[in-house]
Amino acid sequence: MLSMFDPVFLGIDEFGAPVYLELIYRNVLAAGEPGGGKSGLLNTIAAHAALSDNTRLVLFDGKLVELGMWEQVADAFVGPDIDHALTTLRRLQQVMNNRYAWLRAHGRRKIARDDRLSVIVAMVDEIAYYSATIGTEQQQKEFAALLRDLVARGRAAGVIVIAATQRPSFDIIPTSLRDIFGYRCAFRCTTSNSSNIILGQGWAEQGYNANDIAPTNQGAAYLLAEGGIPRRVKVAYLTDTQIAAIADYAAWIRRPTGIHTPAGTTGIATAA
Ligand SMILES: Nc1ncnc2c1ncn2[C@@H]1O[C@H](COP(=O)(O)OP(=O)(O)O)[C@@H](O)[C@H]1O
Ligand SMILES: [Mg+2]
Repeated sequence: MLSMFDPVFLGIDEFGAPVYLELIYRNVLAAGEPGGGKSGLLNTIAAHAALSDNTRLVLFDGKLVELGMWEQVADAFVGPDIDHALTTLRRLQQVMNNRYAWLRAHGRRKIARDDRLSVIVAMVDEIAYYSATIGTEQQQKEFAALLRDLVARGRAAGVIVIAATQRPSFDIIPTSLRDIFGYRCAFRCTTSNSSNIILGQGWAEQGYNANDIAPTNQGAAYLLAEGGIPRRVKVAYLTDTQIAAIADYAAWIRRPTGIHTPAGTTGIATAA
């Protein structure tokens, strides 16, 4: 099996060289206009996560069909239901708090491969759906606050957040939230300003502008890693048929054997 502690294959760069992401202890924000390739990126990462040993998926998908094919291997799959989204995020927060208590008791600051604690990959396609579209204002605020807490504190506890948004505006992604994502991926944007909102002020002026990605070049993006300079990438794309095949295989290798505690049967609340 793969591991979330290993780099995740993302695609190629402009020279055709493979691009890998170290996702453990990091979060990813994918943003850009509809049809740019955000969900494609989430699926490519979901495939690695699904095939990874000791890895749990918690999926939020307001459209149901973007991440839907991974439901059989996910611990939780949240559709267009704000109450379900909030209870799931609260449970994740509790798991994270438990893990910090465990780490503290062991005089440690972050989980390691040998701890055998599961890695939890939480994916949100799309943030604005839960933080600005459905539910009451109070619920939307709570969603944003819980998500921010997971992004801010989850990393060392083995909780990785991968989130997408098609509305890279300050009301959806305040700078304070944006800046705590270790990786930001700007797919095609309609304006240089939107590109800057994703990558950071000033990058477009230096030539890293997601507005210059052709509408026909889906899956192309500028990828910014913490402290680096943006890198032009083309995300590896999985077709529906490929996703279905990988998800089936992942479900099979994750099947209960009676020897180990199978992922997906105990629920995230019991994850140590
Ligand atoms: N990496 C990619 N390579 C080639 N085509 C892609 C890629 N990503 C997306 N596409 C094409 O673009 C369409 C829209 O992509 P999607 O990921 O759904 O966009 P978004 O989530 O940003 O709205 C896909 O259905 C697919 O046809
Ligand atoms: Mg999408």
